[in-house]
Amino acid sequence: MNGTDDPTRHADLSAIPDGVPTLTVAELEADPHGVFRTWRPRLPVVGHEVAGYLVLRARDVDLLMRDPRARATETLYPETRGIPEGTLFDIFAHGMLTANGTVHRRRRSPFTRTFAARMIEGLRPRIRAAAESLVRDVLAEDEVDLVERYTSLIPAQTIADILGLPRDDIPRFTRLAYEVSRVLSFTFGPEDIPDLEAAALALQDYVRAILEARRSSPQDDFLSRFLAEADAAGELTPQEVVVQLVQMIIGGTDTTRVAGAMQVALLLQHPEQWAAVSRDPGLIPAAVAESLRYEPSVGSAGRVAQEDIALDGHVVPAGSMILLSTLSALRDEAVYAHPDTFDIRRADLPRLHPIFGGGAHRCIGEALARIELEEGLGALMRLAPDLRLTGAMPAIQGHSGIRRIDALRVAA
Ligand code: HEM
Repeated sequence: MNGTDDPTRHADLSAIPDGVPTLTVAELEADPHGVFRTWRPRLPVVGHEVAGYLVLRARDVDLLMRDPRARATETLYPETRGIPEGTLFDIFAHGMLTANGTVHRRRRSPFTRTFAARMIEGLRPRIRAAAESLVRDVLAEDEVDLVERYTSLIPAQTIADILGLPRDDIPRFTRLAYEVSRVLSFTFGPEDIPDLEAAALALQDYVRAILEARRSSPQDDFLSRFLAEADAAGELTPQEVVVQLVQMIIGGTDTTRVAGAMQVALLLQHPEQWAAVSRDPGLIPAAVAESLRYEPSVGSAGRVAQEDIALDGHVVPAGSMILLSTLSALRDEAVYAHPDTFDIRRADLPRLHPIFGGGAHRCIGEALARIELEEGLGALMRLAPDLRLTGAMPAIQGHSGIRRIDALRVAA
C-alpha cells in the first residue's frame, strides 16, 4: 500500500494552535541550537514554517521514531515542496526511507545481510588501510581541505567497493549525491528544483547504466548477487531496484562525510581532548559518539501523524507533517548533563546512539558509518597527531535532513 488515497495525508498548517510559535526556516538555519535551547524547556513541539511541526524533546523523538501513529511520509514531502512528479518524486515514491509496512520491509530486506554489523566489521581492515593511505596523501601537502581530500573519500570509496561502483566514478556520483541530498533541506526554493531534478536524473541514469553492465556481465560482488536475487524473487520492481541503490549512494556518502569532518574539527577545537584520544585510541569510539551527538550530520527525520498525537498536552493533528528533531533531542537537558559542552568522556549517551533513529527505519548504514568514522579518526591520530586548523572552525549548517559543512582547512 502506498497510501496515496489516505485522506489524512495533507497537512493543514493553519491548525497550529495558539501559544505554539511557528518558527521560520531563516531563524532555524541561522541558529538551530539557540532556537531549540529556547523552546525545548517550554514546549514539546513547535510549528515549522514549511514542515508542519518540529518535535523537540529526546523522549518524544525516540518514541515517535517507532510509534505507528507517526508514519513514514511516502510522497507527502515532495508534494508539499512543489515536486508532484519526476525523478526526485520517484525517490520518495519508490524508496525505503519514506515507505511503510510491508512495502518498506520488501525494499529494505535485500540490504540487511550485507549491512549487518557482523558483515561490515569484516571490512574494517580494508577501511583502515584506505584511511591510512589517504592520510599519507594529505601529509604530502602543506595545507589541504580535509573534507575534499579525506572525510568525503573514506565513505565514497567504501560504498563504491561494497556496491561495486568503479572508484574512478567517485567524483561523478558524489557530486550528484550531495546535490540530490539538498532536497531534504528547507533551503531550496522553486527556482532550484530544475537543478535538483537534473542531478536526480543523472544519478538515476548512472545507476541504471551500472546495473545494465552488471546484468550483461555478472561479477562476484554485492551488486550481481543483489540483482540475481531481486530478479529471482521478483519482489522489487525495476524502478525500486534503481531507487534503493540511489538511496544507498546518498545515505552512504554525504552523511558520513559531514560527520567525519565535524569530529575532526571538534577535537581540534578542544586540543586537550584531541591529545587524550591520540594518547589512548580506546577513546576513539566515545569521541565519534560524542561528535555525532554534539553536531549531528542528520538534523531530523520526517513523519506524518496518522491520528492526533498528544505530547504533554499539545496536540499534533492527524495529517500533519512532523520533523523529529534529532538535532534538538541530542542536546536535551533532560537526558544530557551540560548538553552544550563537548565532552568525549560523558557517560549519559544511550547505548543505541539516537542519531541513527529508531524502529523500522533505524539507519541501515549505522555499523558502516561507525567503522568509517572510527577508522578515519584513528588513522589521523596515528599518522598526523600534530594536525592543526589553518582556517576558521568550519560552520556546520542546517536544522533538518543531511546538514552541510564548509571546507576544513588543516596542516599536519
Ligand atoms: C553518520 C552517518 C549517518 C547518519 C547520522 C545517518 C542517520 C540516519 C537516520 C537518522 C536514519 C533514519 C531516518 C528516518 O527514520 O526517517 C537513517 C536511515 C537510513 N540510512 Fe543512514 N545515517 C548515516 C550513515 C548511513 C550510511 C553510511 C548509509 C549507507 C550504507 C546509510 C543509509 C541509510 C538508509 C538507506 C536509510 C533508510 C533506512 C530505512 O528507511 O529503512 N546511512 N540514517
